[in-house]
Amino acid sequence: MGSQVFKPNANSIAHMAIIGIAVGPLTIGLALAALSRSPANTKVNIAKNQPVPFSHQHHNWELGIDCRYCHTSVEKSSFAGIPSTETCMSCHSQIWTNSPLLEPVRQSYETNTPIKWNKVNKLPDFVYFNHSIHINRGLQCNICHGSMQDEHITMKGNSFQMAWCLQCHRAPERYLAWNKDLKKEYPGLTPRELVFKYYWKLQKEGKGNLSQSETQIANNTYNGEESPKDVEDGKAIIKELGIKPQQLADCTVCHR
Ligand code: HEC
Ligand code: HEC
Ligand code: HEC
Ligand code: HEC
Ligand code: HEC
Repeated sequence: MGSQVFKPNANSIAHMAIIGIAVGPLTIGLALAALSRSPANTKVNIAKNQPVPFSHQHHNWELGIDCRYCHTSVEKSSFAGIPSTETCMSCHSQIWTNSPLLEPVRQSYETNTPIKWNKVNKLPDFVYFNHSIHINRGLQCNICHGSMQDEHITMKGNSFQMAWCLQCHRAPERYLAWNKDLKKEYPGLTPRELVFKYYWKLQKEGKGNLSQSETQIANNTYNGEESPKDVEDGKAIIKELGIKPQQLADCTVCHR
């Protein structure tokens, strides 16, 4: 579990440090120094054992099932949600019914006990995160989660450390124009809808037909737009969406 790499009281130290903003920079400095010595909570690109070897590569890429079929609340709430056994059984009561790999799924269904999936991504309790706002701004899942469509066993795609979040929060204009070619192809779609259209395009046409940014997003090598033209387009999107970039790096955005 991600939280175990923190020392037992790391959550409370951090909380105090955040409150300490009012008290003085020294408190924060000390707490940060203490915490930075604890092992980093990264574990990027390490496959996590699961009770069932569920493959995104198989279900998303080969079968082309939309993320929202399983992660039903990702565009509406702070949590994406993990699918219930019923969602799996909507197909697996009819196909692959004898697969030994699916035995835990059948067991779960028959005994009415949820499958205990191991969490791959977990922020500490003192950090606030919200999926719906990021999806509604048109930020692609892979920008944060890595090459989901290629994964046989789910892995963490990025460190999710504070500095990683801030890299974007301090310059969101660099990350918002990745979809401009897709937008030309589908002018009627909102940024949110383009997030999912991206996978559809990837699945239907393969990696050969992607723009440079789209390719980097597929391969988890995307570090935001570099060219002045793309950054200008990102700034225009910020205006259009009413994002207030000067406030996005405030401590209270993520620590409340
Ligand atoms: C058929 C159902 C299904 C579909 C479709 C699906 N997922 Fe998943 N996803 C799961 C299940 C089950 C888990 C939990 C097991 C695991 O981590 O592999 C999961 C886990 C995840 C996790 C890690 C959750 C954690 O523990 O932190 C991410 C991120 C994720 N999915 C993203 C996506 C994205 C992006 C898409 C669309 C490209 C997608 N999923 C489509 C079923 C699905
Ligand atoms: C929309 C239909 C659909 C849904 C929903 C679905 N699957 Fe599948 N799944 C398939 C198909 C089709 C295959 C077989 C793919 C192949 O090998 O050609 C498969 C294969 C599998 C396999 C590999 C079986 C083997 O013996 O190789 C596992 C494990 C699996 N699914 C788990 C799950 C889990 C867990 C869920 C729910 C989170 C789920 N599936 C939801 C269609 C679905
Ligand atoms: C801006 C970065 C970002 C984007 C974009 C993003 N996620 Fe996440 N995701 C996270 C973070 C951070 C967590 C861990 C949240 C926590 O522990 O509170 C997470 C956790 C998850 C989880 C597991 C926990 C949960 O929320 O139920 C799933 C599943 C998931 N994401 C799916 C998706 C899908 C699907 C998309 C695209 C539609 C997506 N994410 C887009 C950052 C992101
Ligand atoms: C690739 C860019 C990007 C990354 C990475 C990113 N964010 Fe954001 N975040 C945004 C944008 C854009 C907004 C929307 C601002 C707006 O609409 O006003 C936002 C908004 C938010 C909000 C405000 C939500 C609200 O309800 O007001 C929170 C909280 C947040 N992000 C937390 C995080 C955390 C925590 C991480 C790291 C785990 C993270 N973000 C990573 C771009 C990003
Ligand atoms: C965009 C979101 C975001 C903003 C803005 C943000 N933080 Fe954080 N902060 C995080 C995340 C995510 C972590 C957890 C890092 C981890 O798990 O490694 C964190 C962790 C921390 C910690 C614990 C020590 C550490 O580095 O892990 C402290 C203290 C902290 N933040 C203080 C602040 C202060 C002070 C500000 C304002 C100057 C701030 N944060 C702004 C996301 C944010």
